[in-house]
Amino acid sequence: MRIKLGVFFGGKSVEHEISIISMIEATLRINEEKYEIIPIYIAKDGVMYTGEDLLDLEMYRDMDVLLKRCYKIAVVNDGKKVNVVRCPAPFIGKRVLNTIDVAFPIVHGTNCEDGTIAAFLNLLDIPYVGPDILASSIGMDKIVMKKVLKESGIPVVDYVGFYSMEYVKDEEKILSEIEEKLKYPLIVKPGNLGSSVGIRKVKNKTELEEAISFAMEFADRVIVENCVSKLKEINCAVIGNITESEATECEEPILGGDILSYTDKYVGDRKGSKTGKFGARKGGRKFGAKAPSAGGVNNSAEGKKLPADIPNETRDEIQKLAKETFKVLGCSGISRIDFLIDEEINKIYVNEINTIPGALSWYLFEASGKPFEDKLEEAINIAIKRYNDREKLTFSYDQNILALTGGVKGN
Ligand SMILES: Nc1ncnc2c1ncn2[C@@H]1O[C@H](COP(=O)(O)OP(=O)(O)O)[C@@H](O)[C@H]1O
Ligand SMILES: [Mg+2]
Repeated sequence: MRIKLGVFFGGKSVEHEISIISMIEATLRINEEKYEIIPIYIAKDGVMYTGEDLLDLEMYRDMDVLLKRCYKIAVVNDGKKVNVVRCPAPFIGKRVLNTIDVAFPIVHGTNCEDGTIAAFLNLLDIPYVGPDILASSIGMDKIVMKKVLKESGIPVVDYVGFYSMEYVKDEEKILSEIEEKLKYPLIVKPGNLGSSVGIRKVKNKTELEEAISFAMEFADRVIVENCVSKLKEINCAVIGNITESEATECEEPILGGDILSYTDKYVGDRKGSKTGKFGARKGGRKFGAKAPSAGGVNNSAEGKKLPADIPNETRDEIQKLAKETFKVLGCSGISRIDFLIDEEINKIYVNEINTIPGALSWYLFEASGKPFEDKLEEAINIAIKRYNDREKLTFSYDQNILALTGGVKGN
């Protein structure tokens, strides 16, 4: 019997389209002899859909047509199983379309990767791959994440974080705190976004004020950081849980400008992409000939150096810090930790963690000589083990105090 894998993707996030690509790239590498993939698409309005066509990237060119060919659904726990049911219920035909044994969220950004989907899956009481609620929400919040990492002795750049409401109330106070603690040039970011959206580099106070207003359009919190000027960026993925983990080969994304932009990350020449290798696969699924207009996760050889051009000691240090970060934040499954190296002073900083990284970083595992199919299986097994361990914890007492006479405590 194949394990039924409910793959959740999409979501109300600026990285919605990236999640679709990530889902396709990752599921193409799942061993379909062992796992049955049940796609669960969360549209931007929150409505969920399922259907075979969701696994075909080409179909996303026309969303209206695609969604007409799918079923609107809800995912519900009936006390015995987690079911995928048509919603609204049909007058005729099956209501329960399928069941799910394990959930596999491949989502990015706010309203999903930030703990929302982990909470939803917790409530459904189903094993799920990837970070739990706490790891997801800390990992998504650039301010809280930096606080936790700093407290644990993991190097991060100096920063000032604040709520937009505080800034609106007393702009000058926050601006002077920034100018006191940090040094231009600075980087201004929305507190909890991804894909470089809303980020600006600034050289003076006027630019700083503009960049803060811009960042506030995307989030209710803002982080301002010292800018690493002679910058080399390195990414490294980790698989495991808090007790055991393994880091991958390091990659070096190539910057098109001052900072790694949305375009650098997602709109690349896909010629070098290994996805081509999977053009035709078991089960007859095909990876579309071209990426949809939204672009894709830029895995092209042109977009990066893989392996990164760094000395062995630096690679070792980065892999060690990647595993420490993964552990400190309580991660599970597959994450990617991104580093900033200041080449002027030869200092390594953890920039951020992507608790559910683009395309699940399959290419980093394969560059480390590890078939990604095996790694996906490992991540699924970690999810099942975590669920079983959690089941052993006490969450309720088998006693109905409401049935006892004597009424409410204290009465
Ligand atoms: N402190 C910094 N100094 C220099 N460049 C930075 C700094 N922080 C971010 N950047 C640049 O901005 C990009 C996006 O920032 P990041 O924090 O990774 O946000 P996102 O979550 O949107 O990817 C980085 O990849 C890097 O190019
Ligand atoms: Mg980043």
